[in-house]
Amino acid sequence: MKREISFRVNGAEATAVAGGGDRLIDVLREGLGLTGTKEGCGEGECGACTVIVDGRAVNACLYPAAEIDGREVTTVEGLTGPDSTLGPIQRAFVECGAVQCGFCTPGMIMSTKALLDGNPDPSDEEVRDALLGNLCRCTGYVQIVEAVRRAAVAGRDR
Ligand code: FES
Ligand code: FES
Repeated sequence: MKREISFRVNGAEATAVAGGGDRLIDVLREGLGLTGTKEGCGEGECGACTVIVDGRAVNACLYPAAEIDGREVTTVEGLTGPDSTLGPIQRAFVECGAVQCGFCTPGMIMSTKALLDGNPDPSDEEVRDALLGNLCRCTGYVQIVEAVRRAAVAGRDR
């Protein structure tokens, strides 16, 4: 059964009507116009749809929309700097050449954000572990790991 839910997205109050099989990705993309979150497989395999709910990286294609009631959701749009400039993680991805077609990038960036919030100085192995659920068909992952390390340094230097 559908019902009205209230939550916060990127720091702002939001509402939606959701229930049954409604998915978080549809509330974000279609309901709120936050199309930075991408849908690849729609089955929890590729990570393109990764967003953060209450500090945890989740697949928005699988996450039931009704369960965000009362929660805090962060999407890639929420990581930009002032005046819509690139935030530090986004900038690191661009500077390291970790963005090619870009389809995986929002999900990679959100998994990176969740990782660095909990572990500001991860090893390469911890970075690779944190990104296991994010598939990239373009880069071979080397530049992505480098970007995460650069973002980690930038975060620690702040
Ligand atoms: S679109 Fe959600 S994991 Fe692939
Ligand atoms: S940059 Fe193309 S899928 Fe990752």
